[in-house]
Amino acid sequence: MIDFSDLTQREWQHLYHRFEDILEHPGDYRDALRGQTLASLFYEPSTRTRLSFEAAMQRLGGGVFGFSDPMASSVAKGETLKDTVIMVTGYSDAMVMRHPCEGAALAASLFSARPVINAGDGCHCHPTQTLTDLAAITRLFGGVDGLRIGLCGDLKYGRTIHSLLTALCRFGGVKVTLVSVPELALPAYAKRACDAAGIQVAEEPDLRSAIGDLDILYMTRVQRERFADPAEYERLKDRVILTPDILSGARKDMRIMHPLPRAGEIDMEVDRDPRAVYFEQARLGMVIRMALLLEMCRLPSFTPAYIRDDTESGRHTNSGRTPSQAVLRCPNLSCITHKEPYLPLPAGDGVCRYCDSSLT
Ligand code: NCD
Repeated sequence: MIDFSDLTQREWQHLYHRFEDILEHPGDYRDALRGQTLASLFYEPSTRTRLSFEAAMQRLGGGVFGFSDPMASSVAKGETLKDTVIMVTGYSDAMVMRHPCEGAALAASLFSARPVINAGDGCHCHPTQTLTDLAAITRLFGGVDGLRIGLCGDLKYGRTIHSLLTALCRFGGVKVTLVSVPELALPAYAKRACDAAGIQVAEEPDLRSAIGDLDILYMTRVQRERFADPAEYERLKDRVILTPDILSGARKDMRIMHPLPRAGEIDMEVDRDPRAVYFEQARLGMVIRMALLLEMCRLPSFTPAYIRDDTESGRHTNSGRTPSQAVLRCPNLSCITHKEPYLPLPAGDGVCRYCDSSLT
């Protein structure tokens, strides 16, 4: 599960039904994954994602092992991602990975005999947050069709935004309003995806002007850790803040979502407003992850791509893209191919297969 596009529409519906069933009959799932083990490899800080995966696995009767500080593992001794993954794949039934480099989960999947779940790769994707968001939206609104969703905050570096947009492009029938300062606008590849999907996208830098039209306001924090220049972060971090005053311009049935953590962009006074659903959203994230783990841990083992030597074809190249024979480097310095230079070439139809950056 590298990005949301790895799920078919039917698979998503199946997960959602399972999610509803778990909410209704949690006791039925108490032993569903007894004897199974999840590897949890967090190369970057996390609260909700890591803890909700761990809680999800434990509520299904399974076990979890792993690290949340890579410097306490052999990564500190210079071990490659490849070697860590090959080894961990022998210990576990599925692997969840968060990494600061874009494309890391896709790279890991080349070396794993068990399913790899992307828990966030740099600024790129965060598909299980998207599952969380869609499950919460579907539960609250019955689906995304016809909704106007405001995406607000750090649209440039926010991987939750990028993954959610990928999913919304697939569902169609949704309208999106982008609310950000120009310096934190959506990357070109995500804009191209919206255009290709034909979803209506409006841009409104002022939250006060945008809020009255929204069904959902999806807030995000400015991603401090992605800034090369801390002064630039300080300059931009408090430019868009949801206050009770701004919220007074919103509809009574609007809902406020946030992947969390927040870093000041939602005033704490807003927490008491019934439209604020971000803590409930986080709770539901554990349940949809239970539904996902049920599917992933039960998959049969497969021969990893690096042994099949077909890393230039099939799923592992983001299927459908034609590999080029030319030796290419990805221009994105945060792409995993720079940190792990033994990886197969990034080529794929002019776009890096790992991080989606344009190769031209
Ligand atoms: C997000 C993330 O890590 O991308 N958090 C999360 O997983 N719920 C959002 C963020 O860190 O801003």
